[in-house]
Amino acid sequence: MRRSVILSCGSYLPKKVLNNAELEKMVETTDEWITQRTGIKSRHVAGDGESTADMAVAAARQALERSGLKGSDIDAVIVCTSTPDQTFPSVAVKVQAALDIPPGPAFDVQAVCAGFVYGLSVADNFIKGGQVRRVLLVGAEKMTSIIDWKDRTTCVLFGDGAGAVVMEAAEGGDRGILSTHLHANGKLKDILYTSGGTSTTHDSGHVVMEGKEVFRHAVQYMADVVAETLEHNKVKPDEIDWLVPHQANIRIIEATAKKLNMGMDKVIVTIHKHGNTSAASIPLALCEAVDSGKIKKGDLLLMEALGAGLTWGSALVRF
Ligand code: UT7
Repeated sequence: MRRSVILSCGSYLPKKVLNNAELEKMVETTDEWITQRTGIKSRHVAGDGESTADMAVAAARQALERSGLKGSDIDAVIVCTSTPDQTFPSVAVKVQAALDIPPGPAFDVQAVCAGFVYGLSVADNFIKGGQVRRVLLVGAEKMTSIIDWKDRTTCVLFGDGAGAVVMEAAEGGDRGILSTHLHANGKLKDILYTSGGTSTTHDSGHVVMEGKEVFRHAVQYMADVVAETLEHNKVKPDEIDWLVPHQANIRIIEATAKKLNMGMDKVIVTIHKHGNTSAASIPLALCEAVDSGKIKKGDLLLMEALGAGLTWGSALVRF
């Protein structure tokens, strides 16, 4: 059986760190409120001249170096982002050019905070279908570029960064992407959106969110998709080594872990220092956990995420 194995991870976080105390000076908020309601203490913010593609290239370069491969070994580039440098071309073609990757497919996937699980599923199907052998998959976001810095209900939540993985086809063995499960409910498109867009206001607009509504759906949909994933694979919660969730709110993460009867010691948490980096949050968390030695080869990982759309999904991965 042909499977897609994750060979390596890479990550990039901008140098500038914005902590809650600094936000207290910008909007009417407190470190206490942000910490208690979200779990966030600080987030990274890209510099003015630093774009999503710059961050994507940095993370991708590290993942590629760690895989022992060269750009010429990669068949396809997929970048998951909702904050591209330009409306077109895609961020993916910029990564392709920067890393001297041959002219195979290169494109962006836009599923907002669920972007990485959507991208992982697309990459997995490209590989399993035999169309390509190796994919460079990146989640990269400059969320701070679409924030209304006067809106305390959103500006405290987001951060910038990029994470990347190199995926390769493997025949036999038990490692690889075991399943992916994707969903969307467009009827909920108006509870999380940007106030602008190319064909309407001719600019990107800024993030607008009915936080409580998104929260409510996130807890339910994450519980549902996690149950669907376990059922599909006939896996019991105690067989999961690590939950690698999208980092939007520590309370959503805790609720999902509780549903799985999983102690927080088996959950990868980076939200306190990354904030919500949208499509970059899962690969950033994965990379950090691999680098720190928590996640090891052969571990069973459950990834799950929900974003605007609403879009949501999961992946079960034998790392
Ligand atoms: O990644 C994509 C998906 N996104 C998510 O999953 C995010 C889901 N939503 C959430 O994480 C939470 O709903 C938030 C963190 C956004 C908000 O937390 P909440 O506990 O749902 O708070 P709330 O929106 O119900 O607001 C409670 C109060 C309000 O005041 P009143 O009306 O009770 O007087 C807000 O105005 O907290 C107030 N508030 C703040 N106070 C201090 C809202 N933002 C702030 C703030 N500082 N930054």
